[in-house]
Amino acid sequence: MFEVLPQLPADPILGLSAAYKQDSNPNKIDLGVGVYKDESGNTPILNAVQQAQTRLLASETSKTYITPQGVQGYIDGMLQLILGKGHPALIEDRVSAVQAPGGCGALRILAELLTRCDKELTVWVSDPTWANHIPLIGNAGLKIETYPYFDKANACIKFDEMAEALAKVKKGDVVLLHGCCHNPTGADLTQEQWQTVLEIAQNTGFIPFIDVAYQGFGDGLDEDAYGIRLLAKNLPEVIIAASCSKNFGLYRERVGLAAMINANSQSKNITQSQIQNVARGIYSMPPSYGGALVDIILNDEQLKALWMSEVTDMRERMQNLRALLVNKLVEKGASKDFSFVNQQKGMFSFLCITPEQVNKLVNEHSVYLVGSSRVNIAGINTKNVEPLAEALVAVL
Ligand code: LMR
Repeated sequence: MFEVLPQLPADPILGLSAAYKQDSNPNKIDLGVGVYKDESGNTPILNAVQQAQTRLLASETSKTYITPQGVQGYIDGMLQLILGKGHPALIEDRVSAVQAPGGCGALRILAELLTRCDKELTVWVSDPTWANHIPLIGNAGLKIETYPYFDKANACIKFDEMAEALAKVKKGDVVLLHGCCHNPTGADLTQEQWQTVLEIAQNTGFIPFIDVAYQGFGDGLDEDAYGIRLLAKNLPEVIIAASCSKNFGLYRERVGLAAMINANSQSKNITQSQIQNVARGIYSMPPSYGGALVDIILNDEQLKALWMSEVTDMRERMQNLRALLVNKLVEKGASKDFSFVNQQKGMFSFLCITPEQVNKLVNEHSVYLVGSSRVNIAGINTKNVEPLAEALVAVL
């Protein structure tokens, strides 16, 4: 029976890791999958996470099932982190939420929930968006359309075109927005632009679906939540998918959150029952471990402070690496102005080079990056920045 299935190509992002591992070039550079790396190229376990693990090991007395919604302390801590303490939606008890297996799990169960609301609705995603958004949402059976977002020729957001397209989205359709650190471009909306998006949503009645996977990696934990908090405060319904993979470094533990801001607490009870039912029908309940760690960190003042300082360190290191790369490219005489890399936020930058140039970087220089020209800034270090800049100048 399986003979009917065709072999599929490697995943455009995850496949890069396998290709990198197989490359025997000792000077290969991995700027592919979005994981944070230190100066030695390692992805360390955060100190706050290590301490939380020790506490969890000492205090966990059972491996019985957790509640269907997940670890409640995790959910409460995450909602405060994302929405801010005292957010009206929290005070008015209008937020339904479940712990999900990673940001991907959250995106998928929310997409499944949307099909229960309206099978015919369209989800509008930015052009470009994270490659996996399309199957995660599309495979739930929803239609996907794109709205203009990034101007590759000028390395900036084409906001006028975006606003014009969003103004035509019909009531009840869903618009996927990146809360911060846009993946893949690193180009984020300004506060004024978020305000405009809010006004368009108020006029058209579209529902924002906000994916926040890099909170703290752009300008700061609160700063990066500006758009989400604004929309969640001023619109009756907002959908949020969050991930702890990057900012807690809990990639393999699969820790995410699926949340819905509802018009009132009665509707919150209904969507809470629905999202738990969606999860029950797919994987029953989330794994406890990662959520239990985040629960310990976010609900302990000292551990939270330690974690926040570690997020700051990661953010500042990535900001410094941006400057390091841009300066090195100038020093090497690059024929293209890459100063836009300094303005981009978070883990990724779009280098705005052609697919042919990307292929040459991979095949001739063993520099691994996504075909769109997305690079993981955290993969740069003081040792590889020179050969990286030389390779880039060579392919321009
Ligand atoms: C990325 O964008 O590289 C990460 O979010 C990893 C993934 O699953 O694609």
